[in-house]
Amino acid sequence: MTGDGTRAVHGPERRAVTQEPLVPPVYRTSTFVLESAQQTADVFAGKESGWTYSRTDNPTSQAFADAVAYLEDPSGIAVGQPFGSGMGAITCTLLALCSNGSHVIAPQEVYGGTWALLTRQLSRFGIETTFVDMTDLEATRAAVRPNTAVLWGEVLANPSMTVADLPGLAAIARDAGIPFVVDATFASPVVCRPLEHGVDLAVHSATKYLGGHSDATGGVVVGPTALMERIRTVRVDTGATLAPDEAALLQRGLATLPLRVARQCTTAAVVAAALSEDPRVVRVDHPSLPSHRDHDLASRLFRGGLYGAVVTVAPEGGREAGMALIDGLQLVKRATSLGGTTSKAVHVPTTTHLAMDEATLAAAGILPGAVRVSIGLEDPEDLLADLLQALGKG
Ligand SMILES: Cc1ncc(COP(=O)(O)O)c(C=O)c1O
Repeated sequence: MTGDGTRAVHGPERRAVTQEPLVPPVYRTSTFVLESAQQTADVFAGKESGWTYSRTDNPTSQAFADAVAYLEDPSGIAVGQPFGSGMGAITCTLLALCSNGSHVIAPQEVYGGTWALLTRQLSRFGIETTFVDMTDLEATRAAVRPNTAVLWGEVLANPSMTVADLPGLAAIARDAGIPFVVDATFASPVVCRPLEHGVDLAVHSATKYLGGHSDATGGVVVGPTALMERIRTVRVDTGATLAPDEAALLQRGLATLPLRVARQCTTAAVVAAALSEDPRVVRVDHPSLPSHRDHDLASRLFRGGLYGAVVTVAPEGGREAGMALIDGLQLVKRATSLGGTTSKAVHVPTTTHLAMDEATLAAAGILPGAVRVSIGLEDPEDLLADLLQALGKG
């Protein structure tokens, strides 16, 4: 008979589960038991498959990344890697593809976190970035240098909802012999599957549409095995791994992803159309609108007549009017982030684009009153009523 301590730690013999659980189990463990010294050596050496340690690989986290890869590439060729956040995914991807002396081309509208990573961090390690107007394919091609290691794009840019010409940009990367990576967070695989348009790697903040409930943070990269193996190595070395509990929440979100995103996008199109006809509004950015510069491109690249679920609206009256619109909201939450069930809004110049001064904002085409609305799953008429009443308070 063993002592209390030993019995408390080891418990009785575990009951075997021979049936498949309907829902994948959560492997909330940091390490895995192996059978023998030889098997441990073989698994560590990669001669035998097996799980060793959760920073390296965890079945729950990997299952989530596999599920995203299957949505991005139904043929099942592309593989996925899980990360603790979208920025973790972006950091590991860039570190895998760049070395000291590398050059990166990124859109001038790139997500602020990626911009900060490139300019504040990677620049310290000899990685230089040229930010270009990626809607200008010739300017993008002209930015390629002999040491360019990555062409980085975004399927939909924040907050303009500019659409990347994926086939055009892929041709530039192909000619230069470099990988074309896109941040597909704003689109999700429901709206666009970048790998079908010549993109090498699709990166997501799973915190947004993939998880979809604003209760978990994560990231995923999807692409061909050889590139993904390099990215996995950086994930393991930096520890930017996705925890199993977060992975389980994100995985649960995936089951409803097509339903959620389709509903969010159709509501966004309804809201965008109505706001664009309101005389108190200067501009609405949503690619569903024929007035959006990329409406035709989006119609060619995007799936199911969907155009994304972020709508940017600039009221008459500039900065004060934008902030008053935010303050007037009763249903839509004053909160950053996007993609969740709850609609959220931020005044762009004082939040997500705080680092930009008036001139830089103007150059980027962001109006002083711009308000970014992430459309959720509320009824379209309730959302529209809230936005219209809040506009009246400007
Ligand atoms: C387009 C885009 N990419 C990446 C990220 C970073 O994701 P995370 O916050 O999960 O690190 C965000 C976050 O807002 C984003 O909007």
